[in-house]
Amino acid sequence: MTTNVLAQTLDPLALAGQLAGKLLINGALTPAISGKTFAVDNPATGRKVADAALGEKADVDAAVAAAVKAQQAWGRMAARARGKLVAECGRRLNEHVEELGRLVTIETGKALRTESRVEASVLADVFVYYGGLGSELKGESVPFSPDMLTVTTREPIGVVGAIIPWNAPLLLMALKIAPALVAGNAVVVKAAEEAPFAVLRVGQIMSQVLPPGVLNILSGFGPECGGPLVAHPKVGKVTFTGSVETGRIVYKMAAEKLIPVTLELGGKSPMIVMADADIDRAVAGAVAGMRFTRQGQSCTASSRIFVHEKLHDAFVDKLRAKVDAMKMGDPLDEATDIGTVISRQQFDKVQSYIRIGKQTPGAHAHECSALPRDPKLKDGLYVRPVIFTDVPEDSRIAREEIFGPVTCIFKWTDYEQVIAAANDSEYGLAATVWTRDLKTALDATRRLQAGFVQVNQNLVVQPGLSYGGAKHSGLGKEASLEAMLDHFTQKKTIILNMT
Ligand code: NAI
Ligand code: MG
Repeated sequence: MTTNVLAQTLDPLALAGQLAGKLLINGALTPAISGKTFAVDNPATGRKVADAALGEKADVDAAVAAAVKAQQAWGRMAARARGKLVAECGRRLNEHVEELGRLVTIETGKALRTESRVEASVLADVFVYYGGLGSELKGESVPFSPDMLTVTTREPIGVVGAIIPWNAPLLLMALKIAPALVAGNAVVVKAAEEAPFAVLRVGQIMSQVLPPGVLNILSGFGPECGGPLVAHPKVGKVTFTGSVETGRIVYKMAAEKLIPVTLELGGKSPMIVMADADIDRAVAGAVAGMRFTRQGQSCTASSRIFVHEKLHDAFVDKLRAKVDAMKMGDPLDEATDIGTVISRQQFDKVQSYIRIGKQTPGAHAHECSALPRDPKLKDGLYVRPVIFTDVPEDSRIAREEIFGPVTCIFKWTDYEQVIAAANDSEYGLAATVWTRDLKTALDATRRLQAGFVQVNQNLVVQPGLSYGGAKHSGLGKEASLEAMLDHFTQKKTIILNMT
């Protein structure tokens, strides 16, 4: 095995400069064929991070060609041997946690201590987890006839296209490429245009371990780079995380080619606090679940909080106090709890929802935390978290995904009604229930229409546990063994007639 020659580079601007204008194709950093680039800005300062390579159809063609070629030998390798290489990628990535955390911080504005560093560490863990699962790519033997040996095998699909967003680019990439690679596929990643550099750096680190062409990384815009990747005739599977709107486009394009897709889309996840809940634990769960540290930019954000009337007022007070105590500031500063939103576009979208909320008859807005005072952050895209109370359940802020630090708290009295209200959403990604009563917990978890339901906690995606939504929140699962088997392999039935 090669030794790690890539030293950690803790100056994220310098590192982005080294990666500027490059794609990863066939194991090498190369410019886009057109030579074109686009600027990536730091949302905390408004200043440019670096120019990224503008990948287009010609680059997609080059990346897919490299992947097709590399996949032939990769797919024939013993599955455990592939797994060992993927686990080795995880170990290498673990040596770069600090560097990756800092790089993702300057391109996304996410706070280093509470978000980016944690994400980089989970990224490495996902590769280590999947790296151990090579020998689990098992088929079955079928008692079809005593004279015939009948078995099923799991084979790689071939080339997988992975399109990822900017809100957790490292983690969401890992959940796609680790299982795809262990299953014997080659992968072409399309990074989000807002946050391409940390993803590219991961590809560069992994290229020291993997054969060239097995993993390729493109940056560019959705329709011009992601579109040709989905449409490419040699791409046999697409895995996507992002908006419902783009998910639909991807699904339609994949339907033309009759290829499978995994879609991880939006959410408006309910949190139900029962009258007997441990209120402090539930409040802490709301802070974690709403991802206030990430400016609420999470598909699983607990953006609909139903609190029993007995606890409602105390819950609102305690939550306000907790969020008020969080410090918004320079994302690289260890004292900072909350960084910025990703882009001017998202900033405007979130602000427009806050305005809509404030204009909603009956609704009350509680603005928390304070904007940073540091003059170098004056152009930063900071949004003060808003907790809305007394919100009509049919209002826009109560129903639509805001993808910002905005949550609605509803007061409830009737159990049947609150379960119905929680389920009255086009989404079904996650849900949490807060109670000390086992019977209530079991009943609610059974009845809530969501893919990931937790009681008395609000954990994020965990390696080993299937994660994925119902209804408009998506199709398929990620993060588990089942996700690798069901979404990155195809089954074959083989019959050996021995007569
Ligand atoms: P998006 O879904 O448009 O972008 C996600 C990825 O898809 C990016 O890499 C993008 O370049 C790519 N893409 C866009 N159009 C494409 C196309 N026609 N063909 C192929 N790939 C394409 O999300 P965007 O524009 O960044 O954010 C819009 C909204 O989506 C947000 O306000 C938020 O509500 C939601 N969102 C949800 C995420 C989640 O984790 N479920 C992540 C990011 C955004
Ligand atoms: Mg978009």
